[in-house]
Amino acid sequence: MANPMKIPFLDLVTPHQELEAELLAVVKMAFSNAGFIGGPMVEQFEREFAAFCGTEYCVGVNSGTDALRFAFMAAGVEQGDILVTVPHTFIATTEAISQAGAQIRFVDIHERTYTMDPEKLREYLETHCRFDISSGNLIERATKHRVAGIVPVHLYGQMADMDPIMEIAAKYNLFVIEDACQAHGAEYFSKKDNVWKRAGSMGKAAAFSFYPGKNLGACGEGGAITTNDQAMAARMKMIRDHGQAKKYYHDIEGYNGRLDSIQAGWLSVKLRRLAKWNESRRMLAHRYHGLLAEAKDSVVTPVEAPWTKGVYHLYVVRVQDREALQAHLTEAGIGCGLHYPVPLHLQKAYQNLSYKKGDFPVTERVAAEILSLPMFPQLLFVQQDMVVAKVKEFVGVRLVASH
Ligand SMILES: Cc1ncc(COP(=O)(O)O)c(C=O)c1O
Repeated sequence: MANPMKIPFLDLVTPHQELEAELLAVVKMAFSNAGFIGGPMVEQFEREFAAFCGTEYCVGVNSGTDALRFAFMAAGVEQGDILVTVPHTFIATTEAISQAGAQIRFVDIHERTYTMDPEKLREYLETHCRFDISSGNLIERATKHRVAGIVPVHLYGQMADMDPIMEIAAKYNLFVIEDACQAHGAEYFSKKDNVWKRAGSMGKAAAFSFYPGKNLGACGEGGAITTNDQAMAARMKMIRDHGQAKKYYHDIEGYNGRLDSIQAGWLSVKLRRLAKWNESRRMLAHRYHGLLAEAKDSVVTPVEAPWTKGVYHLYVVRVQDREALQAHLTEAGIGCGLHYPVPLHLQKAYQNLSYKKGDFPVTERVAAEILSLPMFPQLLFVQQDMVVAKVKEFVGVRLVASH
C-alpha cells in the first residue's frame, strides 16, 4: 500500500509559521536598539530558563557542546583528569570532555532505559580505582590519574537514574555534570529527597542544547548551563566571554561562546510553549506505546521508568532487522532516524582509547537495533497511524516469511 502523504521525521516548519508574528517582533526589538550580544533579552531568557529547570542560575552559551565544555572547566577539571560517561550518546558529550583537557572513560548503559547503568559505574569505580585518603581524590589504578566527575546523559528525553549516581558521586567525592541536551523539562522522582526534580537541577551543573530540532530549539545555534552554584555561574560567564568579568580585563583565557540576544528572545517565545509541546510529545508517545503493543514480540517500545517523566525528544524502538525496517519506512515516505548507529567506543575518532568490540555489550546491542520514529508535538494521529501501520506491515511480513 503506497503512502500518499509524506511523513517527516521532524516538522520544524509548522511551529515557526505558527509563531511567526512573535518571532519577528523579537527581531524588530533587536533592530530597534542594535543590542545583538548580551543585554536584557539574554538576561531575561536566563532567568526564565533557570526558573523552568528549578535552578538558581542559567548561563546562555553558543551551543550544547560549549555548555558541557564550560561546565567541565568551571567545575575545576585539570589536564589529564578522568570523566566517566556512556558510549551511547552523541559525540559532543565526549568532544567536550577531551576539549576540556580531560580523559574519557565509558561505562555501559542499562538495557531498558538506555542511560548510564549505575551498577556499571559502581563496578568501574570500585574495581579500577582507589580512594586516596590524603588527597581526597579517587585515582585510577592503571594510569594514576584523578577521576574528577561523572557525566550522565538524559538520552532521548529520558532521565538517567540520578539517585544512585549522586550517591556514588558523593561517596567518591566526584562532581556530576548532567548532559541534559535532549531533556528540557524531563523529570525525576528522587526517592532520597522524596520530590520530583527537573533535568538540569540535580548535578553540580547541567548542559542544554538549543539546536533547532531539540524540544526547546533556537533558530540557529544555542545552549545553556544551569546550576545552583553562584561561583560556577560567574566562572562560566567569564569563560563564555573571553575570560573577562569586566571589559578588556581578562582573568583567564576564555572563549567566544556567547548566546546571541535574538536567539535568546526567540527561545523566550518558545519557552512559553515548551510545557505544552512536551505534554504533546508524551501523549503521542503513550499513543505509540498503545498502538504498537500488538507488535510487542517484535518491536520493543521505550520504557519510562516509574521514577521518571520523559519528554520524548526521540521515540526510539528496537527491532531485529533495523535496516530493513528503515528501508521499508523510507520507501513509504516516512522519515526516521538513527541515534546512534556506531557506539562512541568503536568510532574511528576514539581508536586511541583502545576500546574494542564487546567492551560495552548493551550499548552495542542497542545501537544495532534502534530506530527513531517520527516524533514532534504537531504530529497528527492520522500520520502516527500510518507510521504504526507500516511498522506492523513490516513485522507481519517478517513473521509470515519466518514460518
Ligand atoms: C546528548 C547531547 N549532548 C550534547 C549535544 C551538543 O549540543 P550542540 O549540538 O548544541 O552543541 C547534543 C546535541 O545534539 C546532544 O544530543
